[in-house]
Amino acid sequence: MPEDLLKSKVIIIDFGSQYTQLIARRVRELNVYSEIYSCHTDPASILKERPGGIILSGGPGSIYARGPGITPSLFSSGIPLLGICYGMQLIAQGLKGRVQATKNREYGRTEIAVKRSPLFSGLPHRFIVWMSHGDSVTKLPTGFRILASSRSVPIAAIGSGKIFGLQFHPEVSHTQFGKKILKNFLFRVCRLEPSWSLSRFVESVVTEIRDKVKDRNVICGLSGGVDSATAATIVGSAVGKKLHTIFVDNGLLRRGEVNEVKRVFRRKYNFHFVDARRMFLRRLKDITDPEKKRRVIGETFIEVFEREAKRVRGVEYLVQGTLYPDVIESGCGIGPASIIKSHHNVGGLPKRMGLKLIEPLRYLFKDEVRKIARRLGLPDTIVSRKPFPGPGLAVRIIGPVTESRLETIRQADQILITEAKNYPVYERLWQIFPVLLPVSSVGVMGDKRCYGETIVIRAVKSEDGMTADWARLPYDLLEKVARRITNEIKGIVRVVYDLTSKPPATIEWE
Ligand code: XMP
Repeated sequence: MPEDLLKSKVIIIDFGSQYTQLIARRVRELNVYSEIYSCHTDPASILKERPGGIILSGGPGSIYARGPGITPSLFSSGIPLLGICYGMQLIAQGLKGRVQATKNREYGRTEIAVKRSPLFSGLPHRFIVWMSHGDSVTKLPTGFRILASSRSVPIAAIGSGKIFGLQFHPEVSHTQFGKKILKNFLFRVCRLEPSWSLSRFVESVVTEIRDKVKDRNVICGLSGGVDSATAATIVGSAVGKKLHTIFVDNGLLRRGEVNEVKRVFRRKYNFHFVDARRMFLRRLKDITDPEKKRRVIGETFIEVFEREAKRVRGVEYLVQGTLYPDVIESGCGIGPASIIKSHHNVGGLPKRMGLKLIEPLRYLFKDEVRKIARRLGLPDTIVSRKPFPGPGLAVRIIGPVTESRLETIRQADQILITEAKNYPVYERLWQIFPVLLPVSSVGVMGDKRCYGETIVIRAVKSEDGMTADWARLPYDLLEKVARRITNEIKGIVRVVYDLTSKPPATIEWE
């Protein structure tokens, strides 16, 4: 990352809050670069980064139950500090105030009254904030003032010099003026420059890649998703024809996706298209075990990709669309942030091929990637594509994968997505897709009894795919989809809706 973009960086120390990534994104939305560090990071290495400000996240721990702590060296460093919720309690306790588990627990919306302070500059005297805590600060550390109170929590915000604590969450959208509070912290307290912008970031990454690659060749696998398409486009604008994109059609993508990728990339850089549909289908024959399907698909992809990549001479680099959430080692071994993703389809590829990695998106969040993708002119079908598993439709067909069952699931998917897009709820869904079950049930068609298979509709809301809630889709939409699927797809006599959240179910059926 170039120096000038880093001049004003904020470090967020993560104590396991579900909102830590949200804090980092809010700070970036205010054009200040932010990075997340685990609370186990050595404080000396945080201070060495010379951040313009430090934010201590909330966390599920309790100071009482010996939750993770913080070293006093951060308090005396002179670097402006903002503690949020658990972060505020750490400040209070660390500077010899008192934190107690009080009877006055507060969850949800609460009104606070604020005092004059740079943090609340330009804000009304009273407004609504989002609280979520059991413990409270009950005695101020020396030199601190109370900056806000609510009816049940007398000490809802504290401050002294450049150190502040908020018992509520300014980063969540339910807190009125939350963004303004963060803005005041960044610009009035830390006196940072708003120097981070996505276009400047892309410009600097392009220059960096160009200097690094020189006259060597670079390969990049395209998957049909927004990450690989954006990574390829950024690298392409840096190295032009030295970029070789490889797109393997595994026969497991949805209708229209292969043509869309071809349309966008066919004439750009060097585009290699491999039609491996038959090979994948042959290897998947009679396989019903989900993990075996995944393994076969992963291995076959590597084989095909490697073979195609070897046809390109002078390759030294492989582009990967790794995102920031995959890079950060956040959390403290508690809370949602500490759960590790388990789906790495082709993780071992670069080592195996002896290639160096280029990861142009490794400092970016997904929403930032989508913004860049839009600015780079990628089509909306790619920019707004919802998460799609690497093994594709194979894990949405329960039982064996055959050409005709692929055709059935593609048709169902097209009907479902076309209809769902007419409803505002579509935008708010994490994923929505059909699953084909090998369950025959009785139907009546043209006055005759018949047997047919079943389609399940799965639609979920989620922040990150780790947990998910089933979506309350309008009946009207469900009705239209069920009618069209049973009318238009041969062999399907029944459509059902999946009402399970994650946990206990996973999002995909396999
Ligand atoms: P589950 O089904 O585990 O899915 O609740 C969580 C998220 O991960 C996606 N998923 C995968 N992605 N390879 C992938 O690249 C896979 O094998 C895989 N399995 C599930 C799923 O679509 C959801 O977004």
